[in-house]
Order: sequence, then structure tokens, then C-alpha cells
Amino acid sequence: MSYPYQVKSAEAYKQAWEQSVADPEAFWAEVAAHFIWQQKWDKVLEWNFEAPDVKWFVGGKLNISENCLDRHLEAGGDKAAIIWEPNDPKGKSRTITYKELYEQVCRFANVLKNNGVRKGDRVCIYMGMVPELAIALLACARVGAIHSVIFGGFSAKSIADRLQDAQAQFIITADGAYRGAKEIPLKGVIDDALEQCPFVKKVIVLLHTKTPVSMIKGRDVWWQDELEKAGVDCVAELMDAEDPLFILYTSGSTGKPKGVVHSCGGYMVYATYSFVNVFQYQPGDLFFCTADVGWITGHSYIVYGPLCAGATVLMFEGIPTWPDAGRFWDIVDKYKVNILYTAPTAIRSLMAYGTEPIAGHDLGSLKVLGSVGEPINEEAWHWFDKNIGKGKCPIVDTWWQTETGGIMISNLAGVTPAKPSYATLPLPGIQPMLVDEKGEEIEGNDVSGNLCIKFPWPSIIRTTYGDHERCRTTYFTAYPGTYFTGDGCYRDAEGNYRITGRVDDVLNVSGHRIGTAEVENAINMHEGVVESAVVGYPHDLKGQGIYAYVVYGNTHGDDELTRQDILQTVSRIIGPIAKPDKIQFVKGLPKTRSGKIMRRILRKIAEGDMQNLGDTTTLLDPQVVEDIKEGKV
Ligand code: WT7
Repeated sequence: MSYPYQVKSAEAYKQAWEQSVADPEAFWAEVAAHFIWQQKWDKVLEWNFEAPDVKWFVGGKLNISENCLDRHLEAGGDKAAIIWEPNDPKGKSRTITYKELYEQVCRFANVLKNNGVRKGDRVCIYMGMVPELAIALLACARVGAIHSVIFGGFSAKSIADRLQDAQAQFIITADGAYRGAKEIPLKGVIDDALEQCPFVKKVIVLLHTKTPVSMIKGRDVWWQDELEKAGVDCVAELMDAEDPLFILYTSGSTGKPKGVVHSCGGYMVYATYSFVNVFQYQPGDLFFCTADVGWITGHSYIVYGPLCAGATVLMFEGIPTWPDAGRFWDIVDKYKVNILYTAPTAIRSLMAYGTEPIAGHDLGSLKVLGSVGEPINEEAWHWFDKNIGKGKCPIVDTWWQTETGGIMISNLAGVTPAKPSYATLPLPGIQPMLVDEKGEEIEGNDVSGNLCIKFPWPSIIRTTYGDHERCRTTYFTAYPGTYFTGDGCYRDAEGNYRITGRVDDVLNVSGHRIGTAEVENAINMHEGVVESAVVGYPHDLKGQGIYAYVVYGNTHGDDELTRQDILQTVSRIIGPIAKPDKIQFVKGLPKTRSGKIMRRILRKIAEGDMQNLGDTTTLLDPQVVEDIKEGKV
């Protein structure tokens, strides 16, 4: 594969960006021409941000799995597509060539068909990081089914909510998943979820951990058994460019997660374009993205982007700190990884172990490092640069979101300059703008505001599943005529963008997005809780921690046990990833006379910034603030 659309110099970047703004349709038509379309589009773009209604490559027909697989067979069938490192360092690693991946995807696509899956059906995927997870995604894409991957850290209740929202009648899972020393009983969790989801017709279960599981006759089938019955050839379904490819649930400022919908055509073009340009991928490079496929990063940069580009990806089942904090570096040396894409939270947790786990590792194969998910603090940036990149690997700080489908603002490795803690410049095709509270665009440099995008890009969110109005009000009404990201941002004197964090009630805990309202709802379901308020506070490892103020009836003198009980409830309702780090029992919450909780004050107290609480005289009962300050945990 060669990438004619890869920009290779700062000058070429500047030209591409300018061209993409002057004539976006010509720009993206040129990029899209390097993909396989069964039928060419009639029109590159139709859009308005009022409805919103965005269509890219209108009338074009394609299948993304053909772009990921079939087209590489002739020239690169024997090339590795996925190299898999198991959780257990002594376990057997697997290399799957493009030809093998193609065969396995076709075969599993037939399994889906044999089990009744049809184009447009929603298929929920709940698996660990095994190659079959990528196969499941690609097989869904091949038959035109809409996949919805749910991260392994979500509870049965969260799964049931998502299954109901998506009306998913099919599930692909495994008996269990390994994550470090832990074993997650995936099928058991699914069974609990299914008690509330009688509409689910089939559950396909991969045998992996050999954890004993219940298998209900007529509903549950084994992946391996079904494969034996399936044919090897599977013609890819002809998809419209605007047909949905997948749904991915993400948290917002209300209690209910929303299903972000991405399309087949535009998503494919942008995931691939951004992959090739940001990381400056060269044929033969080994790309290691440490994200879980349960998040958008795994969708775009483990599966679709790299495979469309004919790249070799490394997929890792385990976690960075097991069996010890040298695991990433063992893997980098073992396979000679060239590009490592990870998260600030992983970097900070490894930093805490010092440099000893790095000693004895060569890491000389590394060429490019990447960061995603939250602002990377300068200390972590320099540690990563010095100890892992040995000062010779460009670090790309990639800002984007589930809704954007691909990287939006980032330096391009070795092509445009990095600046620690800055995502730096927009990719070609991306037109960011900063707005003030009144919605006026803030022009010029050395300014701060809310980050919006004023023109569509190919992988923009198309809708929130089953509720288009929610998509409109969440992203397109705050600043009419633009897409609002929910992030605050500073633009420095040179025009570099620095993301300062969410400006809505969304937390970023270890790179996981969690809504405060969602956590409050879960806490409020706990017996004895009268009401609660959840805010974020700075956390050394997680970036943000979760601080919950809880008004509770009577803890019978055992606050600690009650705290543990509440954590159990949150785990059950959302999942272990949403457990508060701190719970403070309070007599009341600071409210205005109209009953609104003053979160600003609670945030300050959680941060330990007692001096700057601002005006508290408008509160219904200013005394509650004094009580809360005294009882801070
Ligand atoms: C939010 C999106 C993008 C995949 C992983 C997270 C924050 C993301 C950066 C970055 C500063 C970042 C933003 C954004 N974020 N990347 N490089 N620098 N902040 O996807 O769960 O949709 O979360 O993550 O606040 O809005 P997500």
C-alpha cells in the first residue's frame, strides 16, 4: 500500500489544510478515490447543522470490510494484519495474516447469517481483547449489521439498558476475559443482563477462558461449533455510504448514555486518513494501540483505520502493570513495535513505578509515540519522551471524541511540531473555532473559549440512535451552526490548540467518560440515600477522580460500611469504572433558592480550594457549606 494522501512536510500540511478549507469537496473526493467503492458517489457532501443532517459521498456504495481485507489480498495476503499478545506472558501469541483474517471474517459472517443476522440488525459485542473481537466487528460490517461494542467494565444493568436502547437481538460474547490477574465472567454478566431483555434471540459465545457457563438451548451457541457449520465464502453486503456502521454508547451530561452512530463511508475515509497522517504510518511498521476495542480509539485505530491502510497492528489482551510494570516494554521489544499509541493515565500509572521496570529494555524499534483520551500533563509528557522515546520519537497528542470518529487536532509525527500539553493543530479538513459564552466566535490568538467545529468532516456523528432530537440538542444547539465539542480550549500565540477539559458535567476518569448525573442516579438508587451530588477533582493517576456528596438517612454509626455498600450499588448499576473515589456524607447540599445544586462550590471544596468559594449568600442555607467544608474527606 502506498498513501498518496499522506502529507510529508510542514509545508504540505499547510497546503492540504488550506485546500481542505477552500474546497472541502474536492479535497475529500481526492482522498476517497483511494478506497474501493462498488459504486462511486454522486455528490461528495450535503449538510446542514440545523437538523442536523450530514451526508458524505452521497449515493456511494461500499463495504468497509472489503476495504480492510479483500483489497489487500493480492499484494499483501501473507502480511500480518493482527499480531496478538495474550494476557499471560507465557501464553502463545498469534499472528493472523490478511488472508487468514479475510477467511475468518467471511466464515464468521456466515455464522452470523446462519443465526439470523440480517443487514441493519443491531449486534451487541461484549468481549475481551482477543482477535475474535476484531473478527466479530468486521463480520458484522461484512453482512451490514450494526455493531455496538460494550466495554468489559460495564455491569449487567448497563448492558441491558444499551441492549434495550438499540433493540439488539444478537449478542457476541465469550465465556470470560482475562485482564491481568483478574478473570471477568463475561457470559455470566450477559446472562444477568438478559433477564431484562427477552427480545434477544441469539448469543454466540467464544470459548476462551474455559470458565463454566450456562448455555440455554435454542438461544446460546458456541462460536467454535457454529464455525464448523459455516461456509467459507461470503460476498460483502452492498452498503450505502450513509448506512450506519456502528453504534457506540457514551456518557453525556444527562443520566442516560447515548448511542453515537457512525456511517460506513465517511467514517472509513476519515479513520484511515487520520491514521496514516497523524502517525505517519509507513508500510511494514508495527502499530500498537493499547486502547480497548470497547472504546472509539480501538474501533478507529486498532480495527478500521489500520486495516483499511493495510497496516500491521498489535493487539494486547492484558494490562500495563501485570505481571509487572514492564509489560508494555516487554511487548515493544518482543515484537519490535514502531508506533505506540497509549493514554496519559497509563503513562502516569507507569511513572509511579519509576524507571526500574524500563531498565534492560531496548525500545530502539520505537519511532513514534501517541497519547489520547485526556489532557497529558507536562510531567507525563516529558517522562514519556525521555524514558520511552529516548528523546528521538515525536509524540502526537491527539484530541478527538467518540462523536468525531477520528483524530481532529494533533501534530503529525515528525511533520508538524509537538508542544507538550498541546494537541497543536487541526488535521486537514478540520475547522475548529473558539466561542465565548454569547456564542460569538473569538478570533485571533492567545485566547480561550469553548471549542466548536464549524464545518463537517467525513466521520462526524450522524445521529444518536433512536433519538435524533437528542443529537441536535446535545451538539448543535449551544452554538447554532456549529458542532459543539463540550471542551474548553486555549489557542496560543502561534495558533496551537490546548484542550483544557470538559465544560459540561462530564468527567474523564482514567480516560473513561462518565457523566456526573449518571453516577448520581446510581447512588440515589441505594437504599437510604436521600440525594447526592457528584463532581470531579484532580487525581494524580486518573486525571480526574469522582467525589460524591451524599445525604444519607442513617448509617447506624458505620460510615465506612455504608460507603462500601454504596460502591457496590454503583458497580451494579453502571459498573466498577464509575465507583466514586471519595464519598462524603453531608446533612444537605448547597442549593439556590430555586433548588439548583451549586456544583461550582462542591467542586471547589473537592479540590481543597476552600478560600475561593465565591458568593454563597444566594444559597438557601449558607450554613451547609460550612458543614461540608468541615467534613471534607
Ligand atoms: C473527551 C472525549 C478520543 C478517544 C478517547 C476518548 C477528552 C480526548 C484528548 C486530548 C485533551 C482529550 C476531551 C474529549 N480528550 N483526547 N488529546 N487532550 N483532552 O473519547 O470518551 O469520547 O472522550 O476526551 O475532553 O471531549 P471520549
